[in-house]
Amino acid sequence: MGCCHQYFANTPEGDDAFVIDASRMVFGAGCLKEAGAHARAQGMTRVAVYTDRRVSKLPFFDTVTKSLAASGIDFAVYDEVAVEPTDVSFKKATRFAIEGKFDGFVSVGGGSVMDTCKAANLYSTWPAEFLAYVNAPVGAAQPVPGPVKPHIACPTTSGTGSEATGIAIFDLLAMKAKTGIQSRMLKPTLGLVDPDVTRSLPATVVAASGFDAMSHALESLTAISYARRPRPAGPALRPPSQGANPWSDAIASEALRSVGKYLVRAVRDAADTEARTEMMYAATLAGIAFGNAGCHLPHGMSYAVSGLVKDYRAPGYPEDQAMVPHGMSVVLNAPSVYRFTACACPERHLHGAECLGALTRGAAPEDAGEIVAKRIIEMMQATLFPNGLNAVGYADKDVLALVEGAYPQRRVMANAPREASKDDLADLFRGAMKYW
Ligand SMILES: NC(=O)c1ccc[n+]([C@@H]2O[C@H](COP(=O)([O-])OP(=O)(O)OC[C@H]3O[C@@H](n4cnc5c(N)ncnc54)[C@H](O)[C@@H]3O)[C@@H](O)[C@H]2O)c1
Ligand SMILES: [Fe+2]
Repeated sequence: MGCCHQYFANTPEGDDAFVIDASRMVFGAGCLKEAGAHARAQGMTRVAVYTDRRVSKLPFFDTVTKSLAASGIDFAVYDEVAVEPTDVSFKKATRFAIEGKFDGFVSVGGGSVMDTCKAANLYSTWPAEFLAYVNAPVGAAQPVPGPVKPHIACPTTSGTGSEATGIAIFDLLAMKAKTGIQSRMLKPTLGLVDPDVTRSLPATVVAASGFDAMSHALESLTAISYARRPRPAGPALRPPSQGANPWSDAIASEALRSVGKYLVRAVRDAADTEARTEMMYAATLAGIAFGNAGCHLPHGMSYAVSGLVKDYRAPGYPEDQAMVPHGMSVVLNAPSVYRFTACACPERHLHGAECLGALTRGAAPEDAGEIVAKRIIEMMQATLFPNGLNAVGYADKDVLALVEGAYPQRRVMANAPREASKDDLADLFRGAMKYW
């Protein structure tokens, strides 16, 4: 592709090829009732079903378990998944997997549930010291030794795209920052994506998870080119966060068009089936895009924002825990970041803004950062989102700690189109404190 697109022109040290990783998905209203048939087709006989307390009480959860039972599959339910999981909650979920001797996994929930299920599947299949598979430099980043058990992921929020990725994110409590495990082996064998489940989603969850999906797509589009990421020593070492490439560009652009058109409607009206369905599809597409390209600064910075939370509580989320929900902790950084990164690839920022619905005709390259920032801010205002990091409890005196939490997130930081020093990160956090 280097020959036909400037952004992907080959460089002396950079990679010459990119991977196209497809994801197997079934998408459609009511498709959760197929869970049993798919589990059988994958050879599952005894299944661990992961979910969280709230989701376990919703009618569509019964649809899944009834379908498993009707297909003659023996299963046991684990409903203790923590919303925004931690190393402690991952370990507890793993014990359930080890004790149950399962040959398959089904997750029914948002990113918290799907990620927990991936971790339980991994550590019960390939036991290891907890930090062994965790991303460096926090963990040892050991490669997963081989395939894990089949996993059918049923997302119930329209955001993370975790059904399409080999990523499991958690809060490492001792470090007060999020980090993750990433391996193509962790990718669910099937995503069962049923937009009907979004009817019961509270507005703030639609907004936060929708902005997460938007960020996956926009960060994929504006990531460093795969041809500028250092060439790996061998093809097996090419990372899933391989940088922007023509495949992820196409999928990310489509996801952004839907987010631009439907996010605000989906947040405002739970009965707007068209908008909620389109957001579900956009989230899955965005998951495929960032699973093939990788995120960058807004996500890297978010891991410190959520890890260092003080006492902020988001409406619509569990009330017993202080938390800046993932999508919120990402998008609050986004306008500040794009003002900084736009000069590295202004045409990509303008394209992203245009997909989101901004007017870009006649815009000069130097306007790109402001145009994309303005469009995101408009969408934050239209969904009654918090006005920057100030609104979730941070002030300038926290900037140093935020930088120290974000800087080690090399997996995502190195994927940015423009390198950010610690001083740059401090400026970016300051720029994210208040937008209007
Ligand atoms: N693995 C990945 O690729 C990836 C990508 C992005 C984010 N994440 C991670 O995913 C987590 C966030 O996941 P999320 O945004 O999907 O939210 P979530 O799973 O944390 O759920 C948020 C809240 O919504 C509730 N809920 C879920 N579905 C519902 C429904 N249909 N109706 C009513 N309530 C419902 C849950 O019970 C919970 O209280 C974070 O830990 C984040 O770091 C992972
Ligand atoms: Fe995310």
